[in-house]
Amino acid sequence: MYSEKVMDHFENPRNVGEIADPSGVGTVGNAKCGDIMRMYFHIDENRIIQDAKFKTFGCGAAIATSSMATELVKGKSVEDALKVTNRAVMEALDGLPPVKVHCSLLAEEAIHAALWDYAQKENVHIEGLKEPVEDIEELQ
Ligand code: FES
Repeated sequence: MYSEKVMDHFENPRNVGEIADPSGVGTVGNAKCGDIMRMYFHIDENRIIQDAKFKTFGCGAAIATSSMATELVKGKSVEDALKVTNRAVMEALDGLPPVKVHCSLLAEEAIHAALWDYAQKENVHIEGLKEPVEDIEELQ
């Protein structure tokens, strides 16, 4: 039911952990399943994501999608990272079962939340980025 890539990223997740003093950090959750994903970015002065790490308290698909999402955004500009959609993450993982699509949405939302935090801290504008709707305080 899961692709080999999903199993690989679930069993050997890349970029697990935290970044001390991150440029941006975002926490998102899914109220229905209760899973929580937190993503940390280190972004340099050229607006390139030099490092990305995550902590996910959730299902296997959420862990695999966070792992792949952090791999996909590393080395990208903040504008290009914004284009890493849940669909892109799923494609990179060779697909997810339909009931697990919402797990990949968490990854997209976590990227946006971390970018939003960075934009707020640095007082910069990222074209197309919207304020995360989730009230993250409730999830912490
Ligand atoms: Fe909710 Fe996977 S079951 S994130």
